[in-house]
Amino acid sequence: MSAPRKIIIDTDPGQDDAVAILLALASPELEILGITAVAGNVPLPLTEKNARKICELAGKPETRVYAGAARPMVRSLVTAEHVHGRTGLDGPDLPEPSMPLQEGHAVDFIVETLMAEPQGAVTLCPLGPLTNIALALIREPRIATRIKEIVLMGGGFFEGGNVTPAAEFNIYVDPHAADVVFRSGVPIVMMPLDVTHKALTTAARVEAFRRLGTPVGHATAALLEFFERFDEEKYGTDGGPLHDPCVIAYLLKPELFKGRHCNVTVEIASELTMGMTVIDWWGVSGRPKNAQVMRYIDDEGFFDLLVERLARL
Ligand code: RIB
Ligand code: CA
Repeated sequence: MSAPRKIIIDTDPGQDDAVAILLALASPELEILGITAVAGNVPLPLTEKNARKICELAGKPETRVYAGAARPMVRSLVTAEHVHGRTGLDGPDLPEPSMPLQEGHAVDFIVETLMAEPQGAVTLCPLGPLTNIALALIREPRIATRIKEIVLMGGGFFEGGNVTPAAEFNIYVDPHAADVVFRSGVPIVMMPLDVTHKALTTAARVEAFRRLGTPVGHATAALLEFFERFDEEKYGTDGGPLHDPCVIAYLLKPELFKGRHCNVTVEIASELTMGMTVIDWWGVSGRPKNAQVMRYIDDEGFFDLLVERLARL
C-alpha cells in the first residue's frame, strides 16, 4: 500500500459528520493529521466535544482535535438542533470525552500544518460551514498553492436547498466563507445535495450497522435513527440522506462517484438566494471551472464500504 493520504477533517458534528469521522478513523489509507471543529449544526463548544466523543468511540483518543471559529465570518450563526438534537449527537448516549482538546486555534493548526508539510501533501475535508477554511486562506494566502485538494460536503443545485429553497446548510451558514473557498483556486471536489440525497439510510442499511454487534455499530444505528427522522418526514423517504461520509468515501473509492468539472459561484448578495451554489452544469456562463461537482453515487457500494470499515473499529 502506498503512503497514507494526509488529511485534515473540518467538522460540525452532527450525526452524519460522526459517521464520516468513524469511516476515516477506520481506514488505514488515510492519515488524519487533525480534526478541526467549527460552529454549525450546534455551537462550537458542542461540536468540539462531539468530535472528541467520536474519536473515543472509535478507540482513537490520540487524535488531535482543535476548536475553530465560533461563528461565521459576517452573518450570525444559524444552528440545526431541530435536526441533530440539542447535543448535536442525539441518539446514542455517548460518555463525556476524557481525551484533551488541543491547545491553539484550529485556523492556526491548519495554516501551520500546511506550511510545514510538503507542497500538495495535505487534503482538506470540510464537512460543515467553511469558516475555518476561509479564515486560514485569509490568514496565510500562501496555503492556497500548498493544499492538494479540498473535498467538501456542501451546496446543491438540481436538488435546490435544504435550509432555504435555494441554499444548503453548510453554505447558507457562512456564504462569505464559501465564496472565499470557491474563489481560492484550490482544486475542489464538491459533494452537494444532488449526490448526497441519493445515499439514503434505509431501515435495512441501519440494521446492517446494528448487526455488527459492536459499540460502534450500535452507536451508528442510534445516530442514524435519530438523524434520519427529520428528512424522512420532510421528503417522505425510507431513510434520510447521509451527507458527510460521501467526502471520506470519495477519498477511499472515488469510483463510487460520478460528476463533472463546473463553475460554482456562491450567492452573497441577494437575501432571497443567499448561500445558493450556482452550479454551471451545462457550461453556459463562460466562468472558469473551479470544482469537480459530484451528482451520482453507487449507493449500494457506498453503504457496503461503510459497514465493512466500521466493522473494523
Ligand atoms: O446540509 C447537510 C450538511 O449540513 C451536513 O454537513 C450536516 O452535517 C450539516 O452540517
Ligand atoms: Ca456537517
